[in-house]
Amino acid sequence: MKLHHNPASPFVRMVTATAHELNIADQIELIDTGVFLPDRVNEGVAADNPLGKIPSLVTDHGTALYDSRVICEYLCHHAGDKELLPDEPVSRFRILTLQSLAVGLMDAGVSRRYETAVRPEDKRWPDWVARQHTRMEAGMDDLENNWASELGSINAGTIAVAVVLAYFDFRYDDLGWRDNRPKLAVFYEDFAKRSSMTATQPPA
Ligand code: BEZ
Repeated sequence: MKLHHNPASPFVRMVTATAHELNIADQIELIDTGVFLPDRVNEGVAADNPLGKIPSLVTDHGTALYDSRVICEYLCHHAGDKELLPDEPVSRFRILTLQSLAVGLMDAGVSRRYETAVRPEDKRWPDWVARQHTRMEAGMDDLENNWASELGSINAGTIAVAVVLAYFDFRYDDLGWRDNRPKLAVFYEDFAKRSSMTATQPPA
């Protein structure tokens, strides 16, 4: 398998961390996108995904898969795993919703990052940045208050949650997300020690 990859992207890291949890990371060749900017086409990625987005995976059968959620589901299928994403419907859809919550937090965090670090200063929109911030805070409050049961196991949702919290530490070190969220802080402290996280850490 080949994965269009940028180590700074939490969407990509969610896939690589899942591959490590499944013990199949060595089956994936990483194709580094190099500098990945939102305002231009990356031809290498676009050859496999018309949206030009990462992550995009090309299977050993030559099929291109995207987005990160579909790739994670494929990797579980490929590995024959039924624990990260169980078949039992109540658990399955709860975990998929947790994963979507984490992906939504990634969307907000990455969008805010583009707006404040990439977009020309005279074109920035402070209200829009503030809206991404409230989305990040509300999502993390929900994780603190409503997901204790799911956060107690290793699954496709908790991998995505750990990855987005790591991204917030990486790009927003003054966010103070641990303040008033003790359960989430303990969850992350434990999860961050897993080899799936240490092996996929972006360079400083
Ligand atoms: C980042 O540098 O924060 C980033 C890079 C690629 C995709 C998403 C985020």
